[in-house]
Amino acid sequence: MKNYTSIHDIDNIQSWIEEAKALKANPLKHIELGKHKTLGLLFFNSSLRTRLSTQKAALNLGMDPIVMNVSGDAWGIEFGDGTVMNGNTAEHIKEAAAVVSQYCDIIAVRAFPTLTDKEKDESEQVLKSFVKYASVPIVNMESATGHPLQGLTDAITISEQTQKTKPKVVLSWAPHIKALPHAVANSFIQSMRKMDVEFVITHPEGYELNPEIIGDTPVNYNQEEAMKDADFVYVKNWSSYNDYGKILNTDPNWMITNKKLGAAKFMHCLPVRRNVIVEDAVLDGENSLVIEQANNRTYAAQLVLKKLLEGIK
Ligand code: CP
Repeated sequence: MKNYTSIHDIDNIQSWIEEAKALKANPLKHIELGKHKTLGLLFFNSSLRTRLSTQKAALNLGMDPIVMNVSGDAWGIEFGDGTVMNGNTAEHIKEAAAVVSQYCDIIAVRAFPTLTDKEKDESEQVLKSFVKYASVPIVNMESATGHPLQGLTDAITISEQTQKTKPKVVLSWAPHIKALPHAVANSFIQSMRKMDVEFVITHPEGYELNPEIIGDTPVNYNQEEAMKDADFVYVKNWSSYNDYGKILNTDPNWMITNKKLGAAKFMHCLPVRRNVIVEDAVLDGENSLVIEQANNRTYAAQLVLKKLLEGIK
């Protein structure tokens, strides 16, 4: 594996899950692998979990992580080819990526979508420019259209938490006051489609996701029906994909409650708005997996970094 930019970089999800579980059981086993290797983490957007768990993963492998908030702290980066740079950008990605590659053995990048320009977001200009102009492997820490570290984490968590050979997993939209990206939902769908699960998506009409990502996954506009007999309910808000970036619905009846959840386990990538996406009783109850999910972010990142380090040794 040259880079980790998408769930599609996972060749065999079951073997990756088993490897991640082994890392979790013995996190420091490969502490020599990353010795004298540097991980650069570049954040164009905010983060709590990704920022800390990816550094923790690097430290567990003996790597030295260095972190930069690109937006605000670095020079404004130009991504256009042939641009006359007489505006707000001071440095071109061609130089920026080449320079950072001299300081780092692996570069991890977080760059969210605009949610106003679908074509630009789908081109993944920031992530793909780093892949193109850096001379070291690139890790996607959430891009315009995907969050593959989260998607891998969620697959690990479901595998750990189920006793069934084919559990029922539901991805449910829930309301939010802000327009949010599609990245987490996209990567969750991609990871569930690689798993041996019964998978259903539920959302209000108008919130259909990219059909190329959904494929033949069943979509049910009736949340109660979709959630019937679920083992895991993964909840996430996203803005409209077809009416790009718009909020079409804030119906509080889509909020997840204990009554709706029944015996199912509750999952969310965090951060989550209490009593908007999900009621307190769910998050504070014993069926919530959100803290364990966040714990597993370390081992998903550690597995990805280990595979990349093995490729560059
Ligand atoms: N789930 C997740 O990516 O969290 P952060 O945005 O805090 O990194």
